[in-house]
Amino acid sequence: MRLFSKKEKIDMERLPNSIAFIIDGNGRWAKKRGMPRMLGHSAGITAVKKTIDNAEKLGIKEIIFYCFSTENWNRPKPEVDGLFKLFRDFVNNEANQYLDRDFKFKLLGDKSKIPNDIVQKVDEIEEKTKDCKKMKVALCINYGGRLDIINAVNTILKDNKKSITEKEFATYLYSNEFADPDLIVRTSGEQRISNFMLYQMAYSELYFTNTNWPDFDYKELEKAIINYQHRNRRFGAIKE
Ligand code: IPE
Ligand code: IPE
Ligand code: MG
Repeated sequence: MRLFSKKEKIDMERLPNSIAFIIDGNGRWAKKRGMPRMLGHSAGITAVKKTIDNAEKLGIKEIIFYCFSTENWNRPKPEVDGLFKLFRDFVNNEANQYLDRDFKFKLLGDKSKIPNDIVQKVDEIEEKTKDCKKMKVALCINYGGRLDIINAVNTILKDNKKSITEKEFATYLYSNEFADPDLIVRTSGEQRISNFMLYQMAYSELYFTNTNWPDFDYKELEKAIINYQHRNRRFGAIKE
């Protein structure tokens, strides 16, 4: 990886429009400190809130967090329950203020397996914030890239469509009110996608850092964006 000068700052004219985060490493963060995994998850939620504040200050328009995959149900029940308790708190406290902050909030994923009270509150906030303009914020919960595609295909079949364009297909995805991510950040050193936005990431720039998610702060966000700004996005064409 290229090293950039420590003094280099973000070029505010060339910010990514949309950043998505695969927030990994909460468990390892806690283990390193001799703490239970759940404390890693609550530190992870704090890092999500801080990253939203930092993105707002920078003027990022869309931000997406992959919080719970369709495969994460395979974790022990107490961990799953603990995670949903954190999501419940996030929705009731953090997201509940988004109308005042002019943030449009969405939960991306299959809501049918998510506890009812959370879904009700999410539906209410999604409706309330649907015309907000400052920033779009999404949490992917019970989200899988394959599920997203299959869910779209099933809806298309129900609509009796015989053929469909790429643009139209995207309107059936959970992320239909979001742009494709310009930058996808994965923390904790793993270099894989783990069933995140498979369709939407066709031309996303990927950035991997060894930092565990709870340690992801403004400096880390700045590093990721500066790294992104050194990429030459060609989209299959030829560019100098
Ligand atoms: C990410 O942290 C949060 C979720 C996937 C819910 P992990 O819980 O995966 O943390 P590690 O990978 O075990 O360190
Ligand atoms: C990816 O993290 C999913 C989320 C961040 C929600 P995992 O910890 O579940 O991914 P794997 O199992 O290491 O691929
Ligand atoms: Mg993990």
